[in-house]
Amino acid sequence: MAEKNLESLFHDTLKDIYYAERKIVKALPKMARGAKLPELKAALEKHREETEGQIERLQQDFEIFGKRAQGKTCPAIEGIIEEGEEILDEFKGAPALDAGLVSAAQAVEHYEIARYGTLKRWAEMLGMKDAAKLLDQTLSEEYKTDELLTKLADQAANQKAQAA
Ligand SMILES: [Fe+2]
Ligand SMILES: [Fe+2]
Repeated sequence: MAEKNLESLFHDTLKDIYYAERKIVKALPKMARGAKLPELKAALEKHREETEGQIERLQQDFEIFGKRAQGKTCPAIEGIIEEGEEILDEFKGAPALDAGLVSAAQAVEHYEIARYGTLKRWAEMLGMKDAAKLLDQTLSEEYKTDELLTKLADQAANQKAQAA
């Protein structure tokens, strides 16, 4: 059995987020289709495109690490996406739908921020500067997306939900 060290933690976590991103890239179009606010729809569509690039970056990370790109089932992201689907379903047609979708999308972003923040530090510690850089690029995209979602919630989605 391989040693349970920082390398194996890094490898497992890389597989976790690789699995998660490939789930997210499929979930985002459904969320975008459900969104009523044009800005929210656009933000989710744009982030889907970004996510495709993030998946490619992860493939480069695997390459730098010297392992083949491989996912490992991530029950956390499955649960987060499932909750988003529940909101889509239960709030269909309701003025609160967009606020619910923002909250679901932010749960995804926060999961990703946790994972990429850790992976970036571990890559640095393992001497993989290029991998750390790639992970940091994605981390910035996740932060920006989260900030944009907060803005959309504050500017429109939450009031719309409350006014109903
Ligand atoms: Fe992502
Ligand atoms: Fe994301």
